[in-house]
Amino acid sequence: MNFSINPSANPLPADKRQEILSNPGFGTNFTDHMAMVKYTAGTGWHDAHITARAPITIDPATAVLHYAQEIFEGMKAYKLADGTMALFRPDANAARFNRSARRLAMPELPEEIFLESIRKLVDIDRDWFPDVEGGSIYLRPFMFASEAFLGVRPSNEYLYMVIASPAGGYFKSGAPAIKIWVSQHYSRAAPGGTGAAKCGGNYAASLIAQQEASAHGCDQVVFLDAAEHKWVEELGGMNLFFLLEGGHMITPPTSGTILEGITRKSIIQLARDQGLIVEEKPYSISEWRDDAQSGKLVECFACGTAAVVTPVGTVASEEGEFTIGAGGPGQITQQLRRQLVNIQRGLAEDRYGWVQ
Ligand code: COI
Repeated sequence: MNFSINPSANPLPADKRQEILSNPGFGTNFTDHMAMVKYTAGTGWHDAHITARAPITIDPATAVLHYAQEIFEGMKAYKLADGTMALFRPDANAARFNRSARRLAMPELPEEIFLESIRKLVDIDRDWFPDVEGGSIYLRPFMFASEAFLGVRPSNEYLYMVIASPAGGYFKSGAPAIKIWVSQHYSRAAPGGTGAAKCGGNYAASLIAQQEASAHGCDQVVFLDAAEHKWVEELGGMNLFFLLEGGHMITPPTSGTILEGITRKSIIQLARDQGLIVEEKPYSISEWRDDAQSGKLVECFACGTAAVVTPVGTVASEEGEFTIGAGGPGQITQQLRRQLVNIQRGLAEDRYGWVQ
């Protein structure tokens, strides 16, 4: 599919862009362009274009506003030493996007359209790369039901779009390790539900628990399984890893209620390749507390595209708090983070072919 390219007539002036790029934060500023492709039942995908980023007008009856038929992805582009822009495992995002589409009864987007939309957008907005510690262009591909219709059935029309945002660190506090809140009353996902899909509804349902976490001075919420409220699942938007003594790592299995994180998958591979034993198996909240208190659990971290690898120092709940290790970033956590970031930025050999 050919993307028509209509460059913006009013890109942000270079001095204003540089001001943003010197302190990009996360998710508040956007590049000059966006990608858009339409889908109509019977016709398929059509009208692929890159154009100036601008508000879109939709009918108040547009299905997504009522029934939340929407999915998205999160991925990052980095500038390599030779000045070219590179993506990290974009094929994995394309594949997950289509798994989410199937779960939400949406049409699949051919992988080459997904990849082309990202590459074309990154190319036209490459001057938006923030050359700061941890900087990247964060890409947000998404698709929503765009038909104006109030009946409850899959839409006949969809809009696929990509917007881009210069990004620094995800957490505003910049603290060396985050504090997380165990939600004992709210669930993120249930067996048979949409937990494994990257759909907006999952994040909407997590917000009240995230508010509860913030009210208790925590950076993120951690969800337990919906059936027993016993097994640790994931944070509002990140997967979790537990490092036990003796080089033994545990991460909850992706058995339908957990998002199949691409950072998660990459960390598992990097850890195994350096001799750590990684088990994808259920880990309970009481094991977590007991292991932290006995010293058997030495480190814990959260990971995701936005968060990269973020150490977890303290876990709080209605039953009190416990600290992991010395409460700061652990050695293996930092080492895995460095390894991953160095591959992503082209500073270390990419023997996996992840950087494309
Ligand atoms: C990501 O890590 O890219 C996510 O999608 C998590 C969150 C920012 C929504």
